Parts: sequence; C-alpha cells; structure tokens
Amino acid sequence: MLEWFLGRWRATSRKIPASPPASVSPLAPETPGWPAHVAIIMDGNGRWANQRGLPRVAGHRAGMTRVREVIQACHEWGIPCLTLFAFSTENWKRPPHEVEFLMRLPEEFFRSEIDELVERDVRVRFIGDTHRLPPHTQAIVSRTLERTQGNRGLVVNFALNYGGRADIVEAVKAYAAEVAAGHANWDELNEERIGQRLSTAGLPDPDLVIRTSGELRLSNFLIWQAAYAELWFTDVLWPDFTREHLAQAIADYQRRKRRFGGIK
Ligand code: IPE
Ligand code: IPE
Ligand code: MG
Repeated sequence: MLEWFLGRWRATSRKIPASPPASVSPLAPETPGWPAHVAIIMDGNGRWANQRGLPRVAGHRAGMTRVREVIQACHEWGIPCLTLFAFSTENWKRPPHEVEFLMRLPEEFFRSEIDELVERDVRVRFIGDTHRLPPHTQAIVSRTLERTQGNRGLVVNFALNYGGRADIVEAVKAYAAEVAAGHANWDELNEERIGQRLSTAGLPDPDLVIRTSGELRLSNFLIWQAAYAELWFTDVLWPDFTREHLAQAIADYQRRKRRFGGIK
C-alpha cells in the first residue's frame, strides 16, 4: 500500500499547482511542495452553536458542510491524503443525546455525499475502533467502504472512535499475537513494524496537523504518526473554517523549515 501511495503521490505532485490560490496567500519563493497528508482536529462546534443561542448539535450539523468543503479543496488541489478527527475515544463521556446525534451524522453525511465522493474518485477509510459504534453507524461505515474501495484518488480517513493511545496498544497487541503464533520475534520489534500495524498503515505520516477553535493540544489524535508533523492552530471555530483557512495553513506549512532533528 505504501508503495502504491508513494507512486500515486509522485504522479499527482507533477500535476498539482505550485501554490494555493494566490489571492489567499503569496508563497515564499523557496516553497517546498505540498503536504502529502493533512490531518484536521475539527473542534469548536459546540461553542459555535452556543454563540448563536443554538443547541450544541446545531454546531455539529453546521460543521458537516465544512467537511464537504475541505474534501473538495483537497481533491481540487491534489492533496493525496486527508484525515478528519470526527469522534474520539474520549467523546463517549458526553451526554447521551449528543453522542447519539454524532453517531447519526455519518449516515446523514454519507447518504448525501457518497455519489459526489465516488465521482471525485475519493477512497474513504475509517480509523478507530468502528466495531464499538452502534449498528446503524457500522452499517454506513461498511457501505461507504464498499462504495469507495475501488477508488484511487484522494484518501479520506474518518477518525471515528479514534484514540492515538488505543491505536498504539492495538498495534502492539497485533504484534504480540504474531509472536504467540510463532510468526514474529520480540527482538525484531521496531518503529517501522509498529507503524505497519497502526490504523494508518500504508499511508504517509501527517505532514500538517490543523486544529481549530483555539485549543493548543492534540487530544490523543495521531500521537504516534504526528511525531514530526507541523502543527497549525487557529481560533476559527470548525463551522467557520473555509477552504481559504486551509490554504492559509498550507501556505504557512510551506514556509516552515522541517529539520527532523538534523541541521540545515
Ligand atoms: C468538535 O466540536 C466535534 C467533536 C468533538 C465531536 P466540540 O463538540 O468539541 O465543540 P466545543 O469544543 O465544545 O466547542
Ligand atoms: C477533539 O476535540 C476530538 C474531535 C475533534 C473529534 P475535543 O473537544 O473532544 O477535545 P478536548 O476535550 O477539548 O481536548
Ligand atoms: Mg471540543
């Protein structure tokens, strides 16, 4: 999968424009390329609704239209992979009616979007423990996977019941099972082998992690994979986040100097 992905990325990189829309943000001349993987912590729906005197769930519904917009932008700009944090392993602590609403949203979203996603050649994946979702949510997850599994364009990962620590624990357990079956050896466990057993196996690590709503934390999102990601924070609440904000984040990313522990 990683081979396939990198091959596709190289092919796509030749076609994509050299910069986000110039009207949004002029780029530095040494612009190093686009991120291969953008990950977004879509936060602030509740506050957006509170500010308008609306119930929190109205913010979640409004946020859904931004998901559509961000997917369209990534498709149009040739970004190969987008991961969206939709529900965390900690979000079960919320009041039952809010959790119930959030578990219905994927049905609403994919029912209205699936045809366009297929048309855009988007391959949808889910990361997180989807087996613990209610049956009706699992059903839409399966249907969406089926409808988009043959697609070869933008990969969109929906993180649903996702937790970074749980992701690592599951990877280690998978390795332990292989050791127990005599197919692997503890001495050979390394970072690469953990990475190959994470939910994001086969995809590049996120280059850019965006968080909306002014919170400056990862909240257990891709904690292994984002070890060297560039982080970009904005006070904008998720239901107000537009493709122009995304372009701004990418333009800022392109001006960063990534050193990965080395020196330039
Ligand atoms: C993000 O918005 C969506 C989910 C976590 C599901 P929030 O619901 O966390 O909104 P705030 O942070 O309370 O404003
Ligand atoms: C992170 O937002 C989870 C999602 C965006 C799905 P939270 O609102 O749950 O994070 P905390 O609780 O403020 O850290
Ligand atoms: Mg929040």
